[in-house]
Amino acid sequence: MAKTKSAFFCSNCGYESAKWVGKCPSCQQWNTFIEELITKDSKLAETNWKNYSGTKKETSIIAINEVVSQEEERLRTADAELNRVLGGGIIAGSLVLIAGEPGIGKSTLFLQTGLMLKDITVLYISGEESQQQIKLRADRLKIDNPNFYLLTETYTQSIFQEIKKLRPQLVIVDSIQTLQSTFIESSPGSVSQVRECAAEFQRFAKETNTPVFLIGHITKEGAIAGPKILEHMVDTVLQFEGDRHYAYRILRTLKNRFGSTDELGIYEMTNEGMRGIHNPSDVLITQKEDQLSGIAIAATIEGMRPLLIEVQALVTQSVYGTPQRTVSGFDLRRLQLLLAVLEKRGGFHFGVRDVFLNIAGGLKVEDPSIDLAVLCALLSSYEDVALPHRVCFAGEIGLSGEIRAVNRIEQRIAEAEKLGFEKILVSKYNQKGLNNQKFNIEVLSMGRVEEVYKYLF
Ligand code: TYD
Ligand code: MG
Repeated sequence: MAKTKSAFFCSNCGYESAKWVGKCPSCQQWNTFIEELITKDSKLAETNWKNYSGTKKETSIIAINEVVSQEEERLRTADAELNRVLGGGIIAGSLVLIAGEPGIGKSTLFLQTGLMLKDITVLYISGEESQQQIKLRADRLKIDNPNFYLLTETYTQSIFQEIKKLRPQLVIVDSIQTLQSTFIESSPGSVSQVRECAAEFQRFAKETNTPVFLIGHITKEGAIAGPKILEHMVDTVLQFEGDRHYAYRILRTLKNRFGSTDELGIYEMTNEGMRGIHNPSDVLITQKEDQLSGIAIAATIEGMRPLLIEVQALVTQSVYGTPQRTVSGFDLRRLQLLLAVLEKRGGFHFGVRDVFLNIAGGLKVEDPSIDLAVLCALLSSYEDVALPHRVCFAGEIGLSGEIRAVNRIEQRIAEAEKLGFEKILVSKYNQKGLNNQKFNIEVLSMGRVEEVYKYLF
């Protein structure tokens, strides 16, 4: 007989305790413990993956010198952006978690990825949508694949029975929060359920050498829903982000045991699914010909990729006593800092003006080198004078108004050159060791904000 008991779980990290405690001994958070019912029946919980094709050998102790080092074999998907963020392709037996906001396109992207893998058997498990809904979506994508199978089921035990029959070579789970294990009584999406279901898929992936993609939800605050332990269990964590009102999406690597976490994939949501964008800068700069005030182009690097982005600013006379500061795609506090620098070092009166700042395309940029472009866009709108044509910027602004050096300057310059810019303004501290003759673009280097103002206006 199965024995029912309850336990307390930390909703932050997933720590299990027999009694309620105020402070989690593992992650030190307060008031995170919740009671959940669990049924333990150890005999049933053992899913036996022996005799499954691709099953690994028994492991034993081995001296490190005897381990033959070999390149991990990767299964390349038809999607170059996904290959890039995974570090070159899908590794056998890897467990990958993809998180993102609802409606961002997680289901679309992985349905599309699975459908395009025509040489292997793919199983798509959905606990969110019916077979008809998935079929409709697949029709929209217009990809035909007879080796692609669907399963709409949420109980992991039934799922594994079906898996044993089909023996898929890739499993996609949409989503981990909808699954439930019969060994745990609590509802789907709860800490103990997510932890148990993920653990079952982890065991399956490792013991059968089958790659598994787990799609996950995120919380209101933007963190991956479920206990932190979920992120520890998987090999790779990908975050799918972007503004739902825009077409562009960014797939970022947050953790990767098989590659770099600096990688980034850029997509556009179209009527026929997700399309990888290989020349993002070209798409992101919209104002190519018109000379408008308040627009500056930043030469940023996201992950490993150089990206030219348009920054738009609007500075107007404030109507109310307290001026407004509104940003989209940029950190509000960073904007306030830049305004304070301009106020103090340049004597500009932003205190009586409303400031609006927008990064075109709905992207969120984390690279501090965008500072200089933001500052120039602000000045351009303040003075209502358009910036010179075909000039872009790369520099971080310090508190005393100095322009600080940024990393990988050559890559940024090369990207600006490739897109036909004539000048790039960088920090003078970046000038050292830089051979300007090498580039077909004029590299201007300056040390202070005042110099930039004098040059531009
Ligand atoms: P979806 O993949 O369901 O998002 P998630 O799984 O992250 O919640 O994406 C849903 C949105 O994508 C929906 O608003 C419709 C849109 N969409 C397209 O724009 N083009 C397409 O080809 C498809 C299939 C969906
Ligand atoms: Mg979905």
